[in-house]
Amino acid sequence: MKFFIDTANLEQIKEAQDLGILDGVTTNPSLMAKEGISGNEAINAHYSAICEIVDGDISAEVLSTTYEEMIKEGEELAAIHPNIVVKIPMIKDGIKALKYFTDKGIKTNCTLIFSAGQALLAAKAGATYVSPFLGRLDDISVDGLNLINEIRTIFDNYGYPTQILAASIRHSMHIIDCAKLGADVITSPLAPILSLLNHPLTDKGLAQFIEDSKKMK
Ligand code: G3P
Repeated sequence: MKFFIDTANLEQIKEAQDLGILDGVTTNPSLMAKEGISGNEAINAHYSAICEIVDGDISAEVLSTTYEEMIKEGEELAAIHPNIVVKIPMIKDGIKALKYFTDKGIKTNCTLIFSAGQALLAAKAGATYVSPFLGRLDDISVDGLNLINEIRTIFDNYGYPTQILAASIRHSMHIIDCAKLGADVITSPLAPILSLLNHPLTDKGLAQFIEDSKKMK
């Protein structure tokens, strides 16, 4: 399973990259705005900076919602770096845009997926990734993990190469459950990734080993 970090914060991206387990980065307009990034020049420079830190797929989301504008914007984003993945919203014009970029050999990530039918349409259009938002479904008392399971079954039934990029991860159990269900990728904030490290018996055991190692010197 690939690990992406879901942030536009360069320090957190560097910290995850330093761990040596990072495969890519996803961003969205909310995450970019949180870092105070605005205007075309600053947006493109920020994506370039992320591409300098991580050698993997970097999702950059279009801000427009019409086919023509998404094509123009997506082509500009794709020109920033070969690792840029054009992130397209799950709307009717978005499906057409996915097909356009697929035919041009440009990687895509279809975002805001909340149903198996949406994932199926995106896969038909050739999306490289679909991003089901499992945390936001859990927030409204709908089982987000069930959606991951449904999409896995459908993609496996027909051998769709589209990768399931489980998004809106809220805690480490989401990551573990996605791994059990066969998600291809999880994209997570830094904290849930780091919390995979933790176990009290590891801390207790290490403290004992350190204490006993003093007797060996
Ligand atoms: O990047 C898309 C998704 O991961 C957003 O997550 O926490 O805003 O629901 P969240």
